[in-house]
Amino acid sequence: MTKARQLASVTLQPGAVRRITGRYPFGHAGDIAAADAGITPGEVVEVRAPGGAVIGRGYFNPEGATPLRMLTWEREAIDLHFFRSRVRAALARRAGRITGTNALRVLHAEADGMPGVVADRFADVLSVQFRNAGAERHRELILRALREETGAAAAFERSDTGERRREGLALRTGVLWGDVPERVTFFEDDLTLHFSPMAAQKTGFFLDQRDNRRLLRSLLSAGEAFLDVYSYTGGFSLHAARAGATPVAIDKDQVALGVLEREARENGLNVGVRWGDALETLAALEREGRVFGAAVLDPPTLAKRKEDVPRAKRIFTEGAERVLRMLQPGGHLLISTCAHYIRVDDLLDAARVAAGEARRDAEVLAITYQPADHPHLLSVPESLYLKSILLRSLS
Ligand SMILES: C[S@@+](CC[C@H](N)C(=O)[O-])C[C@H]1O[C@@H](n2cnc3c(N)ncnc32)[C@H](O)[C@@H]1O
Repeated sequence: MTKARQLASVTLQPGAVRRITGRYPFGHAGDIAAADAGITPGEVVEVRAPGGAVIGRGYFNPEGATPLRMLTWEREAIDLHFFRSRVRAALARRAGRITGTNALRVLHAEADGMPGVVADRFADVLSVQFRNAGAERHRELILRALREETGAAAAFERSDTGERRREGLALRTGVLWGDVPERVTFFEDDLTLHFSPMAAQKTGFFLDQRDNRRLLRSLLSAGEAFLDVYSYTGGFSLHAARAGATPVAIDKDQVALGVLEREARENGLNVGVRWGDALETLAALEREGRVFGAAVLDPPTLAKRKEDVPRAKRIFTEGAERVLRMLQPGGHLLISTCAHYIRVDDLLDAARVAAGEARRDAEVLAITYQPADHPHLLSVPESLYLKSILLRSLS
């Protein structure tokens, strides 16, 4: 337990006070005026304004790229009770909002007041990720809070994200408690889905595309060809196949495509797979004269920094241009980005250039954002990451 009077202090620069008292949770190196000597990575500190007034408490990692991560703006102990109440609040916030599935994100890091902790629930199994030194240092309390509040029978860790390296932490994976099955099983609507806890990407499955999968499925007709670009294990393809469409899934991850083929078989569905680079495979499909009724373009992050955005836009443009040329009139294309730095306007720009190059007219039918179990907190702009545009080809 962290006792209030034992906390070390960190003092902010005058220019950072308004931002951080305004509930922005990150303090960068330039925001810190002074820190007590001897603070060790991930320690909870008292955060002070230049005159000494206490602003709140947070994790401090003198060696981290983002040294300060605010936990609270109250004078409260950072203990089991604190973490339990954060998990409880996160569960309450989601109650009744995620339907038709037994899989959801339970903790979405800063957006749930739990810096650096991501936890996804798949039926009775939790997948947990600790991304920074503060979360790592408090892992036992956080895991106890998660276990007691969710009642999950088993949990495993996938703390193998690059962010940990920037915090000076080693990668860490393995069973946390209970009997973790070789294949985690859950359902999304009328599909039974699986992943292998240690071989899957990220925390296992892209739960954040759930609403978009449903949206595209609702637009598909039986017999239509569907193109799933950057498919991973084919969440979009399996929904499309359930609607009677004939999907083609493209990914460079051969293991993921193997999982997709097995999922299709076990759900009694047919999905064609193409292993390879997305843009090259699109070019090949074009040469084959293929035509599709709908498509999704859902690449990996592409822009981890602002400077990466122009390059990312060129990839979106090339992909969208190739897809639009193969889309039948009236066909739908969903373009998604999971990069915070790529804005909706960037997607629209990239799509506009692509449609122009393909000599197609298209209508923007919808702009969508991440679902309710991946909250976008107003005070944390970085918590908005998934943005998608839905186009309908008019010519
Ligand atoms: C955001 S995930 C896609 C999630 C998927 N749409 C779903 O709903 O589960 C991005 C995928 O792109 C794949 N990928 C990354 N670079 C690629 C490339 N150059 N060509 C093909 N696939 C690529 C990754 O293997 C990963 O599966």
